[in-house]
Amino acid sequence: MSGNETSRASKVVILDFGSQYTQVIARRIRECRVYSEIMRFDAQPDQIRATGARGIVLSGGPASVFSEGAPQIDPRVFDLGIPVLGICYGLQLMAKHLGGAVEFSNRREYGASTLSVVKKSPIFDGLPGRFQVWNSHGDNVTQIPDGFETIGTTENSNFGAIQHPSKSLFGLQFHPEVAHTPFGKDILENFLVNVCGCQHNWTMGSFIEQACADIRTKVGEDRVVLGLSGGVDSSVAAALIHRAIGDQLTCIFVNNGLLRSREPETVQRIFRENFHIRLKYLDATRSFLDLLRGVVDPERKRKLIGGEFIRVFEQATKELKAEESQGHHYRFLAQGTLYPDVIESVSISGNPAALIKSHHNVGGLPEKMDFELLEPLRQLFKDEVRQVGVELELPREIVFRQPFPGPGLAVRILGEITDERLDILRQADEIVVTEMKATDWYYKVWQSFAVLLPIRSVGVMGDERTYENSIALRIVESQDGMTADWVRIPYEILAQISTRIINEVRGINRVCYDISSKPPSTIEWE
Ligand code: XMP
Repeated sequence: MSGNETSRASKVVILDFGSQYTQVIARRIRECRVYSEIMRFDAQPDQIRATGARGIVLSGGPASVFSEGAPQIDPRVFDLGIPVLGICYGLQLMAKHLGGAVEFSNRREYGASTLSVVKKSPIFDGLPGRFQVWNSHGDNVTQIPDGFETIGTTENSNFGAIQHPSKSLFGLQFHPEVAHTPFGKDILENFLVNVCGCQHNWTMGSFIEQACADIRTKVGEDRVVLGLSGGVDSSVAAALIHRAIGDQLTCIFVNNGLLRSREPETVQRIFRENFHIRLKYLDATRSFLDLLRGVVDPERKRKLIGGEFIRVFEQATKELKAEESQGHHYRFLAQGTLYPDVIESVSISGNPAALIKSHHNVGGLPEKMDFELLEPLRQLFKDEVRQVGVELELPREIVFRQPFPGPGLAVRILGEITDERLDILRQADEIVVTEMKATDWYYKVWQSFAVLLPIRSVGVMGDERTYENSIALRIVESQDGMTADWVRIPYEILAQISTRIINEVRGINRVCYDISSKPPSTIEWE
């Protein structure tokens, strides 16, 4: 089945009213293996019809339907004959435009409540009679429009869920897309399948086809440059864009001298030799390490590394642009920005999407670079990006690797960074990675790494007294890096790592295990 047929068969449109959950709705729909397209709240009915959508989901939103400049829907959307599911603000718009009554409230109702199903509905098929739902709304529907009936009530609302059976219009006061509504995904799936007649035929493969088509349309004959860090996000972005436009993509990989053991070789092998991606490799080790000489303050280290990265990267892109005289036009800068990197600030009056700012994964590149951004992963979550990576046949060592900070080993060497200390940390780090992979714990934790401390202590090796460095071992579990806890890893693994580091890495005579959580500590030591 071609990409077009796939999307024709089971596509829905999400109208975005500025909800912080719009992308979560899209994700839930992907989990139901249905394709969705997000459109602006003011999309015209003809535009929506032209997409061939089988259903329309109206997102929630932060506004009151009464506030000036609140995002409005073209009410003719309700006459398209396409089923509509209005969530929260979407429900209120439905009630307001179709003849119901909505009451202004400047007090939001947050939190869990219990929905009681009071009437049979195709969207509640297979669900219990009562279940937990999660609310976050200001305005209240006080009267439902003619032809509608209540299908669910909560402690606080007589209109927790409503439907117009013959027109296939549905409204939910609560948020089915969030994890705190445990049956929420079932409700969305019931809407997609029972009401809209969608088939479960969307896969990550179809995402890749669609993304490649979009990239080709956007890029045309022009060229794209991408800063490859070797991390999951930029690697998947590189593989995806390369699938779309081949040699029109050039990746720049900067060796800042702060990478893990064999990392520059691995990245070059995978991307240049296996994928045949045009890769510009820059060994800037000396310029970074010269700058860092004598620097011990963590913030100063980060600033110097960030600034130098920008300088080196800009120089490299200038060289690429110099090729433009030969007919190549580098118009785009690609980034592996994911949805959680996208900081959303919600606009009440304008286009919500216009206020979304990008987080620059590539070490904070300046805004003023003369490029347009290409961010093909920006609607995906990390686990979905990994699925795309697997689908694109990126090796497991890339797809399932742990996060590694942009400033690299510099934030794991406390005190001065020297060649010798980098060498010590690389050896210790390699032992940690090897042992964690050997026991498969590497893939179960968020991060596991060694930190080189700026203190020496006394030890004894053979008959000799030693006075050497210490390594701190940091192994944490986390969902997103914002909070973390140290992993209660089996003692045998700790013992094996410690023994190997002390025996094999010259200059280390002590290994400690970091048992701090975040907060109040951080994951990295600097
Ligand atoms: P902290 O140390 O702040 O780290 O608890 C949280 C997560 O972010 C990673 N990290 C960075 N990643 N550039 C990055 O790309 C950085 O400067 C940076 N600093 C920390 C860290 O590895 C952890 O996963």
